[in-house]
Parts: sequence; structure tokens; C-alpha cells
Amino acid sequence: MQDMALTWRRQGQIVGLVPTMGFLHEGHLSLVRLARAQSKVVVLSLFVNPTQFGANEDLDRYPSNIERDLAYCEAEGVDVVFMPKADEVYAEDASVFVQEQKLSQGLCGMSRPIHFQGVLTVVAKLFNLCLPDLAVFGEKDAQQLRLIRRMVRDLNFPVEIISGPIVREEDGLAMSSRNSNLSEAERGEALVLRKSLLAIVDAKTFGERNVKRLRAMVEEFLREATLGTLDYLEFVDDETLEPVGHIEDRPVLVAMAVQFPSARLIDNIVLT
Ligand code: PAJ
Repeated sequence: MQDMALTWRRQGQIVGLVPTMGFLHEGHLSLVRLARAQSKVVVLSLFVNPTQFGANEDLDRYPSNIERDLAYCEAEGVDVVFMPKADEVYAEDASVFVQEQKLSQGLCGMSRPIHFQGVLTVVAKLFNLCLPDLAVFGEKDAQQLRLIRRMVRDLNFPVEIISGPIVREEDGLAMSSRNSNLSEAERGEALVLRKSLLAIVDAKTFGERNVKRLRAMVEEFLREATLGTLDYLEFVDDETLEPVGHIEDRPVLVAMAVQFPSARLIDNIVLT
């Protein structure tokens, strides 16, 4: 992979990278199209990264359909699908990892303490393996996107980070590979994330700026609407990810995660 990337770079071809864990959907493909628009060579990496899953998380149940993924990639004009095996990516005695100490602490970092170290380490490795000029990430994973931008800034990676908006199902559910693990009943209830976020937008439009009251409103709605448990609902400054108590003029990221028996789902919206 590195040899190929070096050759392209020497020829002056712009290389765009779309990192994924596979089981591709329209969300991933929208990122491929963003990469395509700005690159000569588009690389999609497909690697279910073991180091970003906690011990009791869903690594073993992570969905996969390589044949379908490859067909999608071909249809989208992806030039290279980079599909390394875990033991090719990680030395058995690997002892250097990328750890972020601020933005990774809240939100998903609370219930998934080693998750972002795994994400940042593998993204750094993918950057070194694929040597992209630009890399594209989805706003669906808001905290991940901000962490990757921070890593690129703080470690001087020569990679431009481009982001793509959240792609949703017709009913509003954010597309996710994990949606396929939901039972029919859970799939129905999964809409509570989007509904909660839209209710917050509505309440804000009508003048409610107090985070405690907005949170209480959503918690009450969730008690009625789902058996899933709220992992978190946070209102944070869009840049620092510090919690805010009151919505003022600065953009506020509202992010939430709900744990269903079969999958943990996340969604977010930025209040501007
Ligand atoms: P994965 O969950 O496969 O997502 C790959 C990329 O697709 C991420 O940038 C994610 O934000 C984006 N994405 C997922 N669903 C989306 C949607 N509905 N709309 C827009 N973009 C969406 O995120 C990962 O993999 C991994 O953590 C990875 C970065 C590959 C590192 O292992």
C-alpha cells in the first residue's frame, strides 16, 4: 500500500482516503463521492479495527459483507480497497499508541474509555500506510471527527481533513452499519434519537436555552418512547467539547447515545 501511495505521490496525483470498517451504506458512499471530487486516486480502507472495541463490545458481532462492499466500491469508482488483516496492521508487541487527553474524555469516551485511543492510533497508521493528501470523515461521528482534526493539528499530519454531513434513512434514522443488528421493535424505537434532537431544536426555536430543562424534556420523552437506555445526552461547545449549561451564541454540539439490547446508536446535531 505504501509503495503504491508513494508512486502516486511522486507522480503528483492527489490521493484521497476514506477510512471505514466496512458493511458500507450510503453514508460511507457519500464520503467516497466527496473524496472522488477532489482526488485523482481514491483509496477506501476497510478494516474492523480491534483496538477501538472494548472487551464486552460488539467486535464479534460487527456486520460484514465484503462482496457487497466491493461491488459498491467498484460502482463508485474507488481505485483501491485497502483491506489489511489485523495481524498485518498491529505488531504482536505493539507499544506505541496515540492518546488524546481532552476531547476524548466526555461523550462516547465516558462509556468507551479505550475507544478513541484505538481510533486515533489506527487512523494515524492508515495515514502513514496510504499517504493521503486528504481524508474524508462523517459528521455522524462528531467526537471522532473533532479528535481526528485535533490529532492532525497537534501531530502535524500533512493531511487535509474533509467532513461530510450525516446521511439518514427516509424516516430520519442516521445510517449506521450497526442498524442491521437491530430487531424490528428496536428499529422502530431507534427513531427516538432523531426525534429527541429535533425536539431540542424546536424547543430552542421557541426560546428555551436552559440545558437542564431541555435535558429533562428529552429524558421524559425517552422514558415513554423506548426501552433502550440513554447512555448520554450532552450539550457541549462545538469546538472545545466542554459542557455548556445555557445555549448562547457559540455553536453547541448536542450529541447522544442510546443503548439498545442489540446495538448502541449515536446521533448529533449542531445548534448554531
Ligand atoms: P465506520 O463506522 O465504518 O465509519 C466510516 C466513516 O463513515 C466515518 O467517518 C463515519 O463518520 C462515516 N459515517 C458512518 N455513518 C455515516 C452516516 N450515516 N452519514 C455520514 N457519514 C457516516 O468510523 C469508523 O468506521 C472507524 O472509527 C474508523 C474511522 C474507520 C477507524 O477505524
